[in-house]
Amino acid sequence: MRIYITRAIPADLTALQALAEVNIWPQRLPPSQQVLQAEVENIDGLLCLLTDPIDAALLEAAPRLKVISQMAVGYDNIDVAAATARRIPVGHTPGVLTDATADFTWALLMAAARQVVTGDRFTRSGQWQTWEPALLLGPDVAGATLGIVGLGRIGQAVAKRAQGFGMRIFYHSRQPVEAATEAALNAEWVPLEHLLQRSDFVTLHVPLTAETHHLISSAQLAQMQPTAILINTARGPIVDAAALYEALKTEQIAGAALDVTEPEPIPLESPLLTLDNLIITPHIGSASRQTRETMAEIAIANLIAGLKDEPLPHCVNPMVYQR
Ligand code: NAP
Ligand code: GLV
Repeated sequence: MRIYITRAIPADLTALQALAEVNIWPQRLPPSQQVLQAEVENIDGLLCLLTDPIDAALLEAAPRLKVISQMAVGYDNIDVAAATARRIPVGHTPGVLTDATADFTWALLMAAARQVVTGDRFTRSGQWQTWEPALLLGPDVAGATLGIVGLGRIGQAVAKRAQGFGMRIFYHSRQPVEAATEAALNAEWVPLEHLLQRSDFVTLHVPLTAETHHLISSAQLAQMQPTAILINTARGPIVDAAALYEALKTEQIAGAALDVTEPEPIPLESPLLTLDNLIITPHIGSASRQTRETMAEIAIANLIAGLKDEPLPHCVNPMVYQR
């Protein structure tokens, strides 16, 4: 059997190499679609990253492919319907990155609220001359109201952290979570509009789907408070970047922090990069050493299961196993 891995990953490949010939794209930047198309021609398994568009055309170029394993929890880069139509199971890495991503969300929330990045720039540029009563003021985090859009694994982990800050928590998702979970997290389901109107901080934890594309656009930003801060560690296209630029520029909202952008990487000429009330990090929500190693291990385990015709431990389209 032959497998292709679209980038070097922090995993022990011995078990995989005992089963298949393993080829790895050696460069730091992702393979082009043309390279990928040629590489998948004779492979049985593909281990990919969220930067690789796995679309119907690519699947057509891979007639032998029997498993796709993505080293990420989100899988919006993969045409899952096309894979399912071919009965190809798609694996992902849920759960193991929940704490790392929730921690990072919290880091962004605190940094945006308390001007950590602006303060660093201020210091390095020589502007720090004295202690000033009104220097770089921000809102209180303790006791504030947090709005969580998507109370799944990561949203719940963010809510747990908010308990320590004595925050009031509103959340929105298509279905309310179980009453016991709501009670444990002290979280109240509300319509999105209500969440936006009432929250001091709004944090996004929904997957990118047709339904969540530009879920936050001009109308939603207009519903937020002028003192509110928006955090996005989910996927860039969930927020309409042009609308966010206008809302930040005109101080319709106070600030934002994004770990994900549309597109990625954000072009250096993007007007968003001219704003002082915005923090942008390069999609590093799950980037703790241990988390990335565990993600790679799970991606390998999914791949091996698929090659052996066994059910994937973490499968996004288990319907492929139905007769
Ligand atoms: P999850 O457990 O599946 O949670 C997703 C939540 O979103 C669920 O509560 C779901 O509830 C809700 N949801 C789905 N569609 C919705 C909609 N249209 N409107 C409102 N709520 C909706 O996923 P997770 O593990 O927490 O991960 C969430 C996302 O974070 C991933 O998909 C990925 O894109 C992103 N992520 C980013 C990083 C990073 O490095 N920045 C790291 C990890 C994950 P309902 O089904 O009831 O609506
Ligand atoms: C990262 O963004 C992931 O989806 O795992």
